[in-house]
Amino acid sequence: MGRQRITTIAAVAGALLASALLSACGTDKIQVAQSDPLHAGAVLFQQRCSGCHSLTSAGANGSAANVRKSMRTNGPNFNVRKESYQRVMYAIQNGGFSGAIMPGNIVTGADAKLVATFLAKYSGVDAHTPPSPSPMPAVAAGAAKSAAPKTDLVALGRQVYAQNGCGACHVLKDANSVGKVGPTLQGVGADPAAMIKTSIINPNAEVVKPYPAGVMPQTFGKILTAQQIDALVAYLQSVAR
Ligand code: HEC
Ligand code: HEC
Repeated sequence: MGRQRITTIAAVAGALLASALLSACGTDKIQVAQSDPLHAGAVLFQQRCSGCHSLTSAGANGSAANVRKSMRTNGPNFNVRKESYQRVMYAIQNGGFSGAIMPGNIVTGADAKLVATFLAKYSGVDAHTPPSPSPMPAVAAGAAKSAAPKTDLVALGRQVYAQNGCGACHVLKDANSVGKVGPTLQGVGADPAAMIKTSIINPNAEVVKPYPAGVMPQTFGKILTAQQIDALVAYLQSVAR
């Protein structure tokens, strides 16, 4: 198989990820003035967060982009949800509040503080309108665990794939998913089951070139049952050849 793997992070990987996120989702013009010291925070937000969150001031439409497919990866809409600096820092460091979908530490250090300061100021501008439904942490974590047991592993795997936001980051025709954050899963189904399983429960064991390590959530091994993981593997082996 032609796909190469590396175990180290390429220096350019961050930039590639940023451009992948940008092209993966609808982004509009940033509405924060260049002269505003928080303009750079809006730019970072558009680069790193717009794939999954909406915020007009940062030209981000990620919350709504996949509503038709009701993808759980679409995070809260920050036009309507007011966030504090502390909440944003917590979400950045812990991968959202559930730790299940949002990648952790997508920005770090001074960049994280800048995004948090920006979001604390610019979120919630439309807060008087009722918030759009968004996956709340409890729902997100619960949904992953509560998939009904099914004897048909492939059907269960299809359900687990749809419920855990895999599609926000991966292309898979069977699931109509078009995510560009991670590699396409078309062709992965030909890999041995053990290899697919490792990719899901321990994504850093082998990192697919040129993608950075640590972007695929490290939590699936914990939040999914053994049966759900076997189902995902069976599903990919069945539809992703
Ligand atoms: C791959 C999709 C994805 C990306 C990229 C992403 N998020 Fe999230 N985020 C989510 C999801 C889904 C939730 C809701 C579930 C949860 O909290 O775990 C969330 C929740 C949050 C929350 C908590 C909101 C609340 O009040 O419940 C904050 C704050 C947040 N994200 C900020 C950010 C920031 C800042 C960035 C960019 C640095 C970012 N997110 C990038 C998917 C994403
Ligand atoms: C936030 C984005 C993100 C989410 C959500 C995500 N992945 Fe990934 N995935 C990646 C990235 C980036 C890579 C490549 C880097 C690596 O190997 O860790 C990857 C790699 C993979 C690979 C290895 C692909 C190969 O070519 O060998 C598989 C299989 C995979 N993911 C399956 C899944 C499944 C199944 C889910 C849902 C349970 C999922 N991913 C959710 C980002 C994501």
